[in-house]
Amino acid sequence: MLGNFAYCNPTKLYFGGDSLNALNAELPKYGSNVVFIYGGGSIQKNGIYDAVVEILKKNGKNIAEISGVMPNPTLAKLYEGVEIARSHQPDLLLAVGGGSVCDYAKAVSVSVNCQEDPWEKYYLRFEEPDCKTIPVGCVLTMVGTGSEMNAGAVITNQETKQKIGHVFASEEIMPKFSILNPQFTLTLPHDQMVAGIYDIFNHICEQYFSGEDDNTSDYISEGLMRSLLHASRIANQNPQDYEARSNIMWTATWALNTLISRGKTTDWMVHMLGQAVGGYTNATHGMTLSAVSLPYYRYIMPYGLAKFKRFAIHVWNVNPEGKSDRQIAQEGLKVMEGWMNELGLAMHITQLGATEDMIEGIADVTAVLEGGYKPLQREEIIRILRESL
Ligand code: NZQ
Ligand code: ZN
Repeated sequence: MLGNFAYCNPTKLYFGGDSLNALNAELPKYGSNVVFIYGGGSIQKNGIYDAVVEILKKNGKNIAEISGVMPNPTLAKLYEGVEIARSHQPDLLLAVGGGSVCDYAKAVSVSVNCQEDPWEKYYLRFEEPDCKTIPVGCVLTMVGTGSEMNAGAVITNQETKQKIGHVFASEEIMPKFSILNPQFTLTLPHDQMVAGIYDIFNHICEQYFSGEDDNTSDYISEGLMRSLLHASRIANQNPQDYEARSNIMWTATWALNTLISRGKTTDWMVHMLGQAVGGYTNATHGMTLSAVSLPYYRYIMPYGLAKFKRFAIHVWNVNPEGKSDRQIAQEGLKVMEGWMNELGLAMHITQLGATEDMIEGIADVTAVLEGGYKPLQREEIIRILRESL
């Protein structure tokens, strides 16, 4: 395990079909003002809204609502929510939804008492909050981002077409508790389910494809990937399979709650490319990742050949006999492509509304990170984006 690190994750998880009841144990820990944050209406259709309101009322809470948090929440929506939250003086922000709602709640949390513009402070200058933040609790209804147990909050500025994620350093920003009921995810449309599955897979890849050493995080990652592949194939055939969906939910949380990044430099370039495509197209997060992944991985594979070979054998069961390292690694990516097609993921950015004339602009807003096998130059980003068309 390279380097020195600390590990602390303070989020308390409640998992399972009865886990919403845990709200009764958590709510008394906070004052009476709760801001209930949710998305565009799915929780009203599937009954989760009524169940949550009943528990809030039973616990004597004064409730204000921020509704209509959209996928890829916008800066304009953040400003609106901050105003609502300021006027309600909340003791708790309760996010009920997917990654967008959970991320948004964290962004509101750090902005309510902030004297400066949150976009400038947190998303352009990447500063940490120096004001009082509001505790966040989550009830998760869409699986993928890991937002339920991390300090990430992604916001899109529609005016500048920038989609930027800030992973806060402070554990204060992590949800105080998260309720993970796999049954709540069963009403997700198939395309959202598979987008979430790919998001999970790619979170693991972003951490796995980095660093030189053969560390414990790599072995945990391979186990998580194998579990995810197994469960994804079952869920793809039968989305109502509780066992498969619950394994996917649990894997998502461990894929991005800081555990498997320990001892790794971490890459995150698929996410930087995907987020840049997302800033231009507002496409579903997991689909932006799937559309750029294979061109990116094929490009960097020679720079991390030993790891791509290991990935092929340990994750995709490629038989190495009589093959060169390069052939083994290429076969691994080929089998991965087959799995992605089987799930029905977007494999080209044109499927998401991106066009050739956007490439330069997308490249301009792609942040370059240096933890992977090959720090990219602008012309390399353009080449990968062209291959993703
Ligand atoms: O808005 P509603 O009506 O609730 O519909 C949502 C939304 O349209 C729907 N949905 C959610 N639960 C449902 C449901 N529909 C039926 N039944 C249910 N049980 O699904 C749609 C997508 O929801 P969203 O929250 O946008 O999806 P996801 O969880 O993928 O979150 C995406 C956001 O998270 C960010 C992404 O960039 C994007 O902005 N990310 C956050 C990360 C983090 N915090 O660490 C890391 C990720 O890499 C990612 O960047
Ligand atoms: Zn992601």
